[in-house]
Amino acid sequence: MHFPLQHLLLSLPLAIAHPAKDITKVPTAQEAAVQARELLRSEKIGTLSTVFPSSDAGGLSGHPIGMMDYYADCSNNGNPTLLAIKIATSFRNAKNGAPISLTLREHSPSSEFYSPAAHHRLSLMGRLSPPIPSNSDEGRLARACFTKVHPDAKWWIPGNPIHESEWVTFEVERVYWVGGFGDREFIGDIPVELYRNVTLKEGVANAAMPFNIQRVWVGLKSVLRIQKGDDT
Ligand SMILES: *[C@@H]1O[C@H](CO)[C@@H](O)[C@H](O)[C@H]1NC(C)=O
Repeated sequence: MHFPLQHLLLSLPLAIAHPAKDITKVPTAQEAAVQARELLRSEKIGTLSTVFPSSDAGGLSGHPIGMMDYYADCSNNGNPTLLAIKIATSFRNAKNGAPISLTLREHSPSSEFYSPAAHHRLSLMGRLSPPIPSNSDEGRLARACFTKVHPDAKWWIPGNPIHESEWVTFEVERVYWVGGFGDREFIGDIPVELYRNVTLKEGVANAAMPFNIQRVWVGLKSVLRIQKGDDT
């Protein structure tokens, strides 16, 4: 909707190179925003990417690093909640002013044929909020929501005897979305307002996600030009 030209340019080469009989309508940016929020709701682990600061003692100044971390989708605006361990590299870099992004991918609920390349990918870019005091209402809500999603995290919530930690939210400023193959999925920037404004119905995470194995498989075969019989 907001990036029709860019969208078209991205989707065109695949669409021309691999004409598929079942090409369905490519989602709009608005629809992709809903998909992005559904992905955020349905996953709970992502990769936090930062760069090392110029002061890095190990000589890694400017080098990017991506590390797995837990998040929980506890807000109504798509800003995930994180449990920041103070000594963890991602949070140290962010504290030193590094830009930060959180990258997610869709995991198939099916054990049937599964091609990760055909699935949703999301990169959120933004910054971390100041720490949320753990004894505030907001802090208590963060703890309840986060430990429901990640029961094991109760061992390192603020106040634990081992690692200093704090609740923060990831404040999303830019949203980059790769829905899958460009001839049938939205690829590109999703305007952040569209992303924030999505209202998810309760239970969407556990309800049947719009995952259609047949659509993915048929699409993949057309893209890879797999002939009947090759896939057995
Ligand atoms: C998002 O919601 C706000 C508040 O309801 C509204 O003013 C704004 O126009 C919406 N933006 C988009 C892009 O839908």
